[in-house]
Amino acid sequence: MAQVKQRATVERMPAYVQGKTVESAVKLSSNENPYPPLDSVLEATKAQLESFSLYPDMGAVAVRQRIADHLGVQFDEVAVGAGSVEVAQQLINASADEGDEVIFAWRSFEAYPILVQIAGAVPVPVPLTADERHDLAAMAAAVTERTRLIFICTPNNPTGMTVSAAEIETFLQAVPDDVLVVIDEAYVHFDNAPASADGIDFFRRYDNVAVLHTFSKAYGLAGLRIGYAVAPARVAQHLRSVAVPFGVSALAQTAAIASLDAESELQQRVDLIVAERGRVIAELRAHGWQLPESLGNFVWLRTGERTPEIDQTLREHGVVVRAFGVEGMRITIGSPEMNDRFLAAISHIQPVA
Ligand SMILES: Cc1ncc(COP(=O)(O)O)c(C=O)c1O
Repeated sequence: MAQVKQRATVERMPAYVQGKTVESAVKLSSNENPYPPLDSVLEATKAQLESFSLYPDMGAVAVRQRIADHLGVQFDEVAVGAGSVEVAQQLINASADEGDEVIFAWRSFEAYPILVQIAGAVPVPVPLTADERHDLAAMAAAVTERTRLIFICTPNNPTGMTVSAAEIETFLQAVPDDVLVVIDEAYVHFDNAPASADGIDFFRRYDNVAVLHTFSKAYGLAGLRIGYAVAPARVAQHLRSVAVPFGVSALAQTAAIASLDAESELQQRVDLIVAERGRVIAELRAHGWQLPESLGNFVWLRTGERTPEIDQTLREHGVVVRAFGVEGMRITIGSPEMNDRFLAAISHIQPVA
């Protein structure tokens, strides 16, 4: 029987891999916040439950205004989506036509090449440096007439390395000012290094910069799906044009506002995760593992060919991490108890030389 015709690009595409859940195992594979929602956020969303027979506000006016006030930007410079992954897709769809190029570091957030291909555009991955950082000189050199968008992911998923303000400044000077540079700051709240770039500062100073933020990580709203871009008003307008209509639920919009109202309480949890990250890195190093000083809510082990074997052993000890082929593994920082489980599990494994 004949098969229905489908796009060859889509047929060839790798599927986005979700962090695995294994019953009774500790899940450290999706960079989720290990803590339950705050009471104040739960209360605010409960009040919304009565009205989910209705569509949400398609313009997301209240939450966009709250975000704009929070960051000191204009209301019309904010665009929201069902997670920042949808906003990344909006950015690609609004910028790249078929055959246009989108540059990003690799390895980085695994959705970038998938979303670029869905748009019919061409992914241009630029390898990280040997010390797991963005190679911004090579990324600038990769720009062609067809380049429409460049993602800089800082802290980078999965390596945790950041890009400094000075490096971004040099990069922006080198890149044509009609190419949009997106600074993806999904993990910015966990980045406590003073030299790291502040995307919003670059957005204010350069007309070709947009910043991606999410409520999924530090704010713990991964299951509700809301993220946003701060972008030049014309670009933000285009993001709203290509967005899935009503894509962000009223629950998500309400929870995001309540989360911004509870910022100091949420910061305490972020501080706990950052402290745990320091402990996990120190203990791994003490046991002979070499790993970069991650500034995200995860750490990165370049386990190379031993990745499948180590992944399997960790599973046997009840810990699920995110393994990438024969490259390495990303381990989310969880609660102290979850991290203890991981450290106990990995103590059974000989470190990679
Ligand atoms: C760098 C980066 N950007 C964006 C996202 C998207 O997150 P969300 O769609 O939950 O906002 C992720 C999620 O893992 C990420 O790692």
